[in-house]
Amino acid sequence: MAIREILTVGHPILRKKAKLVTEIDDRLITLLDDMIETMRASDGVGLAANQVGVLRRVVVIEVEDELFELINPEIVSMEGMQEEVEGCLSNPGFAGYVQRPEKVVVRAYDRTGSLYEYAGEGLIARAFCHEIDHLDGILFIDKVTKEASLDEE
Ligand code: NI
Repeated sequence: MAIREILTVGHPILRKKAKLVTEIDDRLITLLDDMIETMRASDGVGLAANQVGVLRRVVVIEVEDELFELINPEIVSMEGMQEEVEGCLSNPGFAGYVQRPEKVVVRAYDRTGSLYEYAGEGLIARAFCHEIDHLDGILFIDKVTKEASLDEE
């Protein structure tokens, strides 16, 4: 495993739409492993492949020791609304309030190629939405309603 460089705001890859994964091969497994290591090394809650310069629909999220590896994730349902503070490893030093659904259900493949549905609420729901936005070239700064001080994050 290796820690990869995280691209920061202004890099054009962060604004591109990632492509569907068509094959789970050794390269994709290495990408997942590297993304997990990179996320943990940066104390992040999630990381999308765009952020390490790879335009594939791959996301990793870790909240309270629960690890999600999402390949070709899709939001299949959402419910309610929350407005909480978010940050992003690609926007160091900035935090702001973003509106997200309170609960979401995501469908995605895991590294073995099995299709799963994951229901998440609160922070997990925010992380699902934030990371899937990355795959479409959308950054949380596009959706910030109000800037927050960094210790609110
Ligand atoms: Ni982010």
